[in-house]
Amino acid sequence: MIRTISAAETIALRWPVLRPGFPRETAIFDGDDAPGTLHFGAFVGDRLVGVASIYLVPCPEKIAAQPGVSPAFQLRGMATLPEVRGAGFGKALLDACVAAARENGAAILWCNARTSAADFYAKNGWRIVGAEFDIPTVGPHFRMSRALA
Ligand SMILES: CC(C)(COP(=O)(O)OP(=O)(O)OC[C@H]1O[C@@H](n2cnc3c(N)ncnc32)[C@H](O)[C@@H]1OP(=O)(O)O)[C@@H](O)C(=O)NCCC(=O)NCCS
Repeated sequence: MIRTISAAETIALRWPVLRPGFPRETAIFDGDDAPGTLHFGAFVGDRLVGVASIYLVPCPEKIAAQPGVSPAFQLRGMATLPEVRGAGFGKALLDACVAAARENGAAILWCNARTSAADFYAKNGWRIVGAEFDIPTVGPHFRMSRALA
């Protein structure tokens, strides 16, 4: 089951999965508490097993599907617990983010995808829109986007 959750609940899972070994502050993202930001959790019963968040942030790349007046959402903090991977929770979270961004009038959803996860996004209809780049302490990434129209 996927439902919206608080920033604090999100960070509790995001931290160990995406910033293991780093202080909790490194798992707090700009805009986590901003109006318009939405956090989603995947649950098995009462247990949180995955998270993803969307933020109202324009895409840095010029993308034809992103008219100037339409809002864009950035997807961040996509993470599932290692023991549930491959069971569809990541896809379910992505689908919830796509649906919410669309409901909020966005033309595109974009993200900085870890290169190791780029195929996960590609399988779900995302495409690479820029050259590979490095995020210090995290590693290589591709900017990817998903048209919503
Ligand atoms: C990437 C991640 C969120 C995927 O979550 P998940 O719960 O395993 O995803 P799903 O079970 O919904 O997988 C959906 C499909 O994508 C595939 N997939 C999942 N992770 C993949 C990856 N890293 N590379 C390629 N394909 C992947 C699955 O095999 C599945 O394919 P199928 O439909 O053909 O069976 C999870 O592996 C994770 O948290 N990884 C560590 C953190 C990370 O890299 N997050 C992304 C940051 S940009």
